[in-house]
Amino acid sequence: MGYIPTYEEVRLFVEAVRSISDYDFSSYSIKSFTRRLEKIISDYHFANVKELIIKIVSDKVFLEKIVREITVNTTEFFRDPDVWIRLRELIVQYMLDYENITIWSSGCSNGQEVYSMLFLMDMMGLLDRVKIFGTDINSKVLEVAIKGEYREKDIMEYKENFEAIFEKFSFKPHIEDFFDLDPRTSKYIVKEKYRKIPYFTKHDLVKQINILGTNFDIIMCRNVLIYFDPDLQNQLFKFFYDELNENGFLVLGKHESILGEMGTRFRRENSIYIKKSINKLYW
Ligand SMILES: C[S@@+](CC[C@H](N)C(=O)[O-])C[C@H]1O[C@@H](n2cnc3c(N)ncnc32)[C@H](O)[C@@H]1O
Repeated sequence: MGYIPTYEEVRLFVEAVRSISDYDFSSYSIKSFTRRLEKIISDYHFANVKELIIKIVSDKVFLEKIVREITVNTTEFFRDPDVWIRLRELIVQYMLDYENITIWSSGCSNGQEVYSMLFLMDMMGLLDRVKIFGTDINSKVLEVAIKGEYREKDIMEYKENFEAIFEKFSFKPHIEDFFDLDPRTSKYIVKEKYRKIPYFTKHDLVKQINILGTNFDIIMCRNVLIYFDPDLQNQLFKFFYDELNENGFLVLGKHESILGEMGTRFRRENSIYIKKSINKLYW
């Protein structure tokens, strides 16, 4: 078995990062953080955490690289299609007469979640009402999001996700309706009519600050909170609650849920939490 950092070493690393940068990982779940650190130390052939700390202190570019590796960026177009299908039904139920639908995808990774939302809204005939923001702590993934360029593999591996959604529409959409294929690079480029809509920017959820200057009808924060400890998760549920409009939706990942008092402030539908009206809070 390889080298596994101790709890004290992990804490030492987190403190070192905090003292030399703006990043604060002190509320990340210790278990998954230790696993990431273990992998980094092995991949870069450091003997231990102390060696890694010496390197990041003297090399800011390397620190940024390590931060990117600590944050897991796995994502898919229409990840968990059943959630998107329920989301569509709830949008019809609650938001069809809204003049604007304001959406925030926080922890959006390389933008696949943001573009999935835009594709869905277009299929529903609501594209011109959507205002959407995509944020992430990792600026590299945001560069991909802004370009909207994906490998063929990213699309084809998740073809079934697209098909599960398409089948709900009588006009039978196709993947080609949403992307242009670049024959030189074999890359799929999101069509310009979608690419021009989102505003992508760097944002750290740990800070719990709304830098976007608006409240939201839908906040998506999927498969991000699992990396945080329960205290930070609860603070974020409160934060998202305050940032949502009445009857707004908070969409979480399949393995994430709101427990305790905050849970009573939402009505749950699959992984979608609907903010209760103030006068219905105490049902
Ligand atoms: C596993 S991906 C999930 C992507 C997408 N939401 C999905 O479900 O497919 C988690 C994302 O959260 C981002 N993240 C991690 N810590 C963050 C933080 N403190 N603030 C904002 N984003 C963060 C990571 O950079 C990563 O892109």
